[in-house]
Amino acid sequence: MQTAVFRSYGSPDVLKIETLEKPTPGDDEVLVKVRASSVNPVEWYTISGLFVARIGNGLISPKETRLGVDYAGVVEAVGRDVTQFKPGDEVFGARSGALAEYVCVRDFIFPKPASVTFEQAGGVAVAAITALQGLRDHGRLQAGQKVLINGASGGVGTFAVQIARALGAEVVGVCSPQNVELIRSLGADRVIDYTREDYTRDGRRYDLILDIAGSRPWRENKRILNPQGTYVIVGAPKSNPWIGPLEFIIKTRLAAWGASQKVIFFIANFKAEDFLVLTDLFESGQVKPVVDRVYSLSEISEAMRYLGTGHARGKIIVTMK
Ligand SMILES: NC(=O)c1ccc[n+]([C@@H]2O[C@H](COP(=O)([O-])OP(=O)(O)OC[C@H]3O[C@@H](n4cnc5c(N)ncnc54)[C@H](OP(=O)(O)O)[C@@H]3O)[C@@H](O)[C@H]2O)c1
Repeated sequence: MQTAVFRSYGSPDVLKIETLEKPTPGDDEVLVKVRASSVNPVEWYTISGLFVARIGNGLISPKETRLGVDYAGVVEAVGRDVTQFKPGDEVFGARSGALAEYVCVRDFIFPKPASVTFEQAGGVAVAAITALQGLRDHGRLQAGQKVLINGASGGVGTFAVQIARALGAEVVGVCSPQNVELIRSLGADRVIDYTREDYTRDGRRYDLILDIAGSRPWRENKRILNPQGTYVIVGAPKSNPWIGPLEFIIKTRLAAWGASQKVIFFIANFKAEDFLVLTDLFESGQVKPVVDRVYSLSEISEAMRYLGTGHARGKIIVTMK
């Protein structure tokens, strides 16, 4: 089967397509023919060989050479203990190595809602689960509260704007000028174009800031947070070649020492019940995945290069055709 592989660290050019053996499902596994997957910043950090990523995956060359997490596809075969799925079922979920024609899945596999296409479902897992957990679990966002989403137009942000609306919050999104209409169309009550307006200086205050971009220091974010508000860091600039976004996270945690507001950084973790929450949101029409560009697997380097610009407009999808 065709699989995206990187055998050394470096630019997106290190990504190659190799023919690897098609996996065979174990007794409790489902073999899925992948129709669509996506690229996430975590893969960009992994292939670029950021020092902290090398600690877990080999200092000189990568031990785990496959990429991808999100997938959507069709069940091709099931192990003998699997009762929930059968060949032909349309599914989506999360599995490492998903940038490939096939994956064997045990845990994170769910019926694909009819309301989303394979391309839409193939970009859900990392970004939408992150948005949901950031707002609901770490930000404890309640109906009627005010949330500012900085970095509203990317993979995580486009889900976050819609999920925050579905939770009943008043949503302000921050993005570049070309994405203002998109964010408004996703339900934001107000959209701030960061090239024209400084979101930390317009006098508004928030119960929660979901910071996906990490473009402003804590002292500026602090002044627009209510005294009991929460600042949730999702992502930050890639600028530090050794520790990447950790530089921003560490600086923020130190600067916020003793503040009345809560400062939280989290790494999303997959839970089956959260995929079911997302399924309900898709089926009810409250959330619709936003697809930016669609690449084929053979164009994986281009997809990763585009992701590296840091200006995706929704999800960047990779199809296995
Ligand atoms: N903590 C976790 O578990 C977790 C999980 C997933 C992702 N992340 C992190 O979250 C970040 C975003 O991920 P993603 O998948 O959403 O990335 P993405 O799809 O590449 O989106 C990046 C977004 O950042 C926006 N942006 C760039 N500069 C900005 C600025 N100065 N102000 C406001 N927005 C700006 C861009 O919007 P414009 O083009 O409009 O500028 C773009 O939409 C990454 O750092 C990633 O590593 C963390």
